Amino acid sequence: MSNSKYKNIALAYDFLDWPFEYFRYKAIRKNIFSGLSGHILDAGIGTGRNIIFYPKNSNVIGIDNSTQMLKISEKRLSNTNSDNITLVANDVQSCAFRSNTFDSIVVTFMFCTLNKEQQLEALKELHRVLKPNGIIKILDYNYSQIPIRKLIMKIWAPWVYLAYGAGFNRALDINTIKGSGLKKTSQHFVYKDMISISTFETSNEN
Ligand SMILES: C[S@@+](CC[C@H](N)C(=O)[O-])C[C@H]1O[C@@H](n2cnc3c(N)ncnc32)[C@H](O)[C@@H]1O
Repeated sequence: MSNSKYKNIALAYDFLDWPFEYFRYKAIRKNIFSGLSGHILDAGIGTGRNIIFYPKNSNVIGIDNSTQMLKISEKRLSNTNSDNITLVANDVQSCAFRSNTFDSIVVTFMFCTLNKEQQLEALKELHRVLKPNGIIKILDYNYSQIPIRKLIMKIWAPWVYLAYGAGFNRALDINTIKGSGLKKTSQHFVYKDMISISTFETSNEN
């Protein structure tokens, strides 16, 4: 499975991301899985940074459309004693799972790598494979509203795009959410006003 951006960066990914992982993301990742159990999908699992935080009483499938990133996940997984985690090469825009499969879906720093059309396709697919009363949690960046922070993020943005194909301006908009048949039930910031966890459920309006 090919994702040219992540094919090229996979081997360097953990090294490049290390300071952010260590000082910023690690503490946040724990939060996102709290209260989740059952059958969980980790969409865009990357190098498997979430693996150590999966709830014990769960069965997790991690997908990614970069085989190079998945290989690093596999290595990370092999260093744990977990037998409740499966990794699958799969594109989030065309999930290889039956409808209504997962109790919850977690997506960390993946939507920031997708453009608007891809976001809509991905969100629709995640909705399809989610059980009717399930939830989707999305951890991602937002542009800060504080001018100096926003300026620093704008200075960083070209590098982030070049290295990761990611943007800070890719928070899911209202039309994308509506088009997917989901509704956003909460959003809370977990790092300044820059990184948030948003929760989505099936919208009754559909
Ligand atoms: C910025 S990394 C984040 C990885 C991981 N979730 C984390 O929190 O460290 C984005 C990941 O999403 C994956 N990805 C991007 N587009 C995808 C798609 N359409 N389907 C599945 N995975 C995708 C990339 O290959 C990459 O591993």
